Amino acid sequence: MKRILSSRQVRNTVRSLAARIREDYGDKRPVLIGVLKGAFVFLADLIREVNMPLEVDFITVSSYRHGRTSSGDVQFVRDITTDIARRHVLLVEDIVDSGLTLDELRRHLTRRSPASLRVCALLARRSLRASHPDAVDYLGRSVPDGFVVGYGIDCGEDYRYLPDIWVLEDG
Ligand code: IMP
Ligand code: MG
Repeated sequence: MKRILSSRQVRNTVRSLAARIREDYGDKRPVLIGVLKGAFVFLADLIREVNMPLEVDFITVSSYRHGRTSSGDVQFVRDITTDIARRHVLLVEDIVDSGLTLDELRRHLTRRSPASLRVCALLARRSLRASHPDAVDYLGRSVPDGFVVGYGIDCGEDYRYLPDIWVLEDG
């Protein structure tokens, strides 16, 4: 395994994302929706750095059901319980790879008529920026190809507990 971000670098990244979010949302009391399970550590740190009135909910989807490759179809496992009509919604993702999960989530949430819907992701694959430059409104860091784990992000439910962020070597 190769470390790509230390916990200190992660903290700085979260801080700068939080500063932008605070600036943009001011007194709008946004609803932050964490995409489970991967985003739970990120969201927990992010809301404390944002440090302004907001609400939190979670949605559970599953697309990486068998390890490292996407199954291609996104399953909704658990929905939000907040009424997001006329609310400012910020979707919080751990890592965006193909953008497929994000597309599905956008469609799903847009049907409930939020006042606005934006996406904050800690990480995104470098290749995504070329294909979907507008997929993520608040992006922490771009990462190279290779399976990423740590800071809540898993491989087959393993490695979520690691404070740093790593790339698994092939094999
Ligand atoms: P996408 O639909 O291809 O964009 O994949 C996004 C989902 O797959 C995210 O919700 C992530 O949790 C998960 N995912 C994508 N890449 C990785 C990775 O490198 N490690 C762990 N999970 C990943
Ligand atoms: Mg995820």
